[in-house]
Amino acid sequence: MMGAFPHRSLLDIEGLTKGDVERILDTAEAFLQVSRRPVRKVPTLRGKTVINLFYEASTRTRTSFELAGKRLSADVINMNVSASSVKKGETLQDTCRTLQAMHPDVIVMRHGASGAANYVASKIDCSVINAGDGMHAHPTQALLDAFTIRREKGTLEDLTVTIVGDIAHSRVARSNAHLLKLFGCEVRVVGPRTLLPPAVDSLGVKVFDDLARALEGADVVMVLRIQRERLEGALLPSLREYARTFGIGPRTIEYAKQDAIVMHPGPMNRGVEIESVIADGDRSVVLEQVEAGVAVRMALLYLLAGESSEPPTVDEAD
Ligand code: CP
Repeated sequence: MMGAFPHRSLLDIEGLTKGDVERILDTAEAFLQVSRRPVRKVPTLRGKTVINLFYEASTRTRTSFELAGKRLSADVINMNVSASSVKKGETLQDTCRTLQAMHPDVIVMRHGASGAANYVASKIDCSVINAGDGMHAHPTQALLDAFTIRREKGTLEDLTVTIVGDIAHSRVARSNAHLLKLFGCEVRVVGPRTLLPPAVDSLGVKVFDDLARALEGADVVMVLRIQRERLEGALLPSLREYARTFGIGPRTIEYAKQDAIVMHPGPMNRGVEIESVIADGDRSVVLEQVEAGVAVRMALLYLLAGESSEPPTVDEAD
């Protein structure tokens, strides 16, 4: 039997070792099989409570955390922030302390402010999972991306991964860069200069402004959403110009390796950062990423809140 997972919360990738990541991904393999069988439920977290607290919109992350909790038999509460006392001016700290008084085991939180999950975790006693905070981190996205890459490529070691697009506003890019570097990957970023963060070098990535050069030899092409809501209209000349220069389509994907996979965290702007023929084509693993999201989030809930029980083995899960 493995020891207890050595973390109370998951706030970012930087707090994890390579061994922690491998343990999460290995655990997720068993839970993937649970999601694929006719009865998609195990009793692992019976009696535990998970609260989803999303201050920002979400389809994939919120739904997959809800499904993950329910498939583990936890009680899952989805707080509707827009119909809560947040609308009456309640502070983040008061909201979280109020929820903590109801004895949840895990609070899953998405917030528009970078550092919000760390702040909450420092104020309350239960586990906190960062489901995306501002432009800082989206650790569960990076973990599900790693899970998908490992299944598709058979390894996470020493791959060349090119992240394309709006790096400056992307918590997905930041978390992926930190995770992939643990496995010796060459992480490249490419996009318009205006969409690269000022301290991009501190991420330890190779920076390109030419898509063809950035994609040469890439095993994985990770396409990011152009975040229209955060761009403030000033950083891109036009979406059409962006699509022509940095969009991933049948012409530009040819720069990558023949067997390169194409990823996108969603939601996609079809016709802007990715063409439909690629998003829906053979190389795309976009829906595999979504499936992986449930398995990885089951693994995290289990590791953070289900310390006293063993996960199902892959054989048992079948
Ligand atoms: N990838 C991702 O975080 O998607 P949602 O915003 O739909 O959760």
